[in-house]
Amino acid sequence: MSKIHAVITGVGGYVPNYRLTNEELSTIVETSDEWITKRIGIKERRILKPEEGSGVSYLAVKAIENLKSKHDFDPLEIEAVVFATSTPDYLLPNSAALTAAKTGMTNAFCFDIEAACSGFIYALEIGETFIVSGKYKKIMVIAGDVLSAVTDYTDRNTCPIFGDGCGCVLLEPTTEEVGIIDSILRTDGANPEHLHLYGGGSVHPASHETVDNHFHYIWQDGRIVFKRAIESMVETCEEILKRNHLSKDAVSWIVPHQANLRIIDSVAHRLDVPTDKVMINIEKYGNTSAGTIPICLWDWESQLHKGDNIILTAFGAGFTWGATYLKWGYNPK
Ligand code: UT7
Repeated sequence: MSKIHAVITGVGGYVPNYRLTNEELSTIVETSDEWITKRIGIKERRILKPEEGSGVSYLAVKAIENLKSKHDFDPLEIEAVVFATSTPDYLLPNSAALTAAKTGMTNAFCFDIEAACSGFIYALEIGETFIVSGKYKKIMVIAGDVLSAVTDYTDRNTCPIFGDGCGCVLLEPTTEEVGIIDSILRTDGANPEHLHLYGGGSVHPASHETVDNHFHYIWQDGRIVFKRAIESMVETCEEILKRNHLSKDAVSWIVPHQANLRIIDSVAHRLDVPTDKVMINIEKYGNTSAGTIPICLWDWESQLHKGDNIILTAFGAGFTWGATYLKWGYNPK
């Protein structure tokens, strides 16, 4: 019997309308377009304003509508919804449930996972395992964040980086030699102090003190995270190429998490992959955490061909990181 692979059969994405430019940000904190462009590579990021909508499920619904407009499916046939996010609408109920209710995926069991910027590749692994088990035929994997809800706009070390956005993919089984081939996922939880959002959890429940201490915002030691991100993504990409006997020339696309253009360039350089094979859209959207990789797939969908060898790689809080190797499943429509 042929091996079952889980293949992406459709991609959707959505970014909110409001563009927060470097120029506008420079009127909020002491920074400049020149510094942000040179040190991070971002020109603008999208922000979900209350007048447009609220909650990451708002973005997810739009992303699913976008997917459905290109690749129609019956929402009632979706068996599970896995939503990777660090900025759910609420602590409970989960945002997968809210999204499913609003898009008619009412036969699905739904849950969120939190793996920060690596959320998409972790969620993809879960979806892939469901499909390969033979028990499920249609899994919706969603990944995105509304980081503007947890960004400290008085902290110039973090606020230029983050934006809002969401992507989704539909996973289905195939016996063809396409789909998710391999993944290497890693975690090191020994040093949460380097990158965290401490407020509102069970250690620091919301209080006047947590608000006064800015505990409800993301904080990071940028230089430590920068170094670990490059080392970790390179290490897992090299390992996955090696164990799948995949030469660098055979790689069609690298899809890295979009945290900093200098990180992306450094990963590409160390992997010896030309930058025209690397999906980069950080200048338009900034770092949307779990959203960056599916948003890249959405942006590049019309350039992807069946059989393309694609490496996804991410690094984020936890620390979480990894690399996924997939063969694209369809030609541009
Ligand atoms: O997605 C999750 C994973 N996150 C990441 O991968 C982020 C990794 N880290 C980074 O991308 C970078 O470390 C940052 C973008 C956060 C910071 O860039 P950097 O080049 O590492 O800057 P730095 O923290 O070393 O700061 C250099 C200088 C400092 O000034 P002094 O001390 O040299 O006088 C900062 O105060 O740049 C200053 N600076 C700024 N200046 C203008 C820091 N932020 C700004 C700013 N505008 N926004």
